[in-house]
Amino acid sequence: MNEIAPSPGGHVKEGTITMDAGEMRCDANPSSPTAPDPSCVVRAPIGLLAELTHRCPLQCPYCSNPLELEKVNVELSTEDWQKVMRQAAQLGILQVHLSGGEPTARRDLEEIVKTAAESGLYTNLITAAVLLKRERLEKLKECGLDHVQISIQDVDTQAENADRIAGYKGGSAKKKEVAGWVRELGMPLTINAPIHRHNIHSVEAIINYAVELGAGRVEIAHVQYYAWALKNRSSLMPTRDAFMAAARLVERKREELKGIIVIDAVVPDYYAKYPKPCMGGWGKGIINITPSGRVLPCHAAESITHLEFDNVRDKPLADIWLNGDAFQKYRGTSWMKEPCRTCPRREIDYGGCRCQAFALTGDAANTDPACSLSPLHEEWAKVADVESHQSPPAFVYRRPGGATPKPAAEKTPVSSDA
Ligand code: SF4
Ligand code: FES
Repeated sequence: MNEIAPSPGGHVKEGTITMDAGEMRCDANPSSPTAPDPSCVVRAPIGLLAELTHRCPLQCPYCSNPLELEKVNVELSTEDWQKVMRQAAQLGILQVHLSGGEPTARRDLEEIVKTAAESGLYTNLITAAVLLKRERLEKLKECGLDHVQISIQDVDTQAENADRIAGYKGGSAKKKEVAGWVRELGMPLTINAPIHRHNIHSVEAIINYAVELGAGRVEIAHVQYYAWALKNRSSLMPTRDAFMAAARLVERKREELKGIIVIDAVVPDYYAKYPKPCMGGWGKGIINITPSGRVLPCHAAESITHLEFDNVRDKPLADIWLNGDAFQKYRGTSWMKEPCRTCPRREIDYGGCRCQAFALTGDAANTDPACSLSPLHEEWAKVADVESHQSPPAFVYRRPGGATPKPAAEKTPVSSDA
């Protein structure tokens, strides 16, 4: 998924809520109800990540979807998603990222895109591309689709490796074909490449491949270890040396390809000095909606087990954004503990990732152990170092009910079942 910068602010208007977003301060922080947080200004979100479905023919072992995938019978209806798109535009959201799972698995994608475009939203389709036909892409463009982002697992000359990682035979060739259609139709294209131990040797080739495909942007996105990726961490973690070499290469390619392609890089937390400002700050710029309509501050927020989430079936989006418990809980800085509480970087990285802090320390309000100032950082970096040098176990592929690992000796299958 894309990292998106926080919104510069905007006008929030939904139902009975009408206000200038930049004027609202959140003074109802549950962790310190009597002490308003002066740094916490609620602005209109800039981006909506709409997980239209968790169905997907691919089985990537680093998928950011939850281990408990939502079933088709709980998915929002076409009308529900259309209502969400209208409410998102009214709330001040500018971009909608149509994601999944695989969003093209929904037969009503055209209707959702049309409503989003008519509401004034910039629409980005985040797709694995293997289900797309040219006629459908043309139709989506007619409906107002603005941008296509295709994920790849490796370059076409390493198709066997790419298909093994995705658990889908023939996927690499199909993605190349669809990327060609996107460019022929004159649509902007981004290539997203999640990077890990099984393809880090291909970083330079992936960047060159994105240029060859006609992409305007390539994301060299080192895997972030939540959900399925956390389950597969010991298989996916690259060595520090491999990461450093890839980071130097990205810098060199940026210089070499200036004006030709934009190269975005997401570094692996385990080898960083400071954590990334996950989601640009909790409840600051992004809304995530699951296939069943649960509204989350980030795609992995359901992993924080004490949080409760509102549903777009029950409440307007603006109300959830402004007042929802899950959004209030870690918004701003007043919930922070030391060392974040008094750290000069607290409004730069917002203490890192709440989901990672919860997964690794059991308390989402703790400093993300990715930070070198966290008391747990060293121990945690050691784990990464050890795992990255061990022989990688078989993937736990992302599939319904698939979170139980197979015996290490079992061969990882390659299938083309949708
Ligand atoms: Fe960021 Fe907290 Fe680390 Fe400071 S202590 S750099 S605020 S994570
Ligand atoms: Fe949830 Fe980082 S993924 S806050």
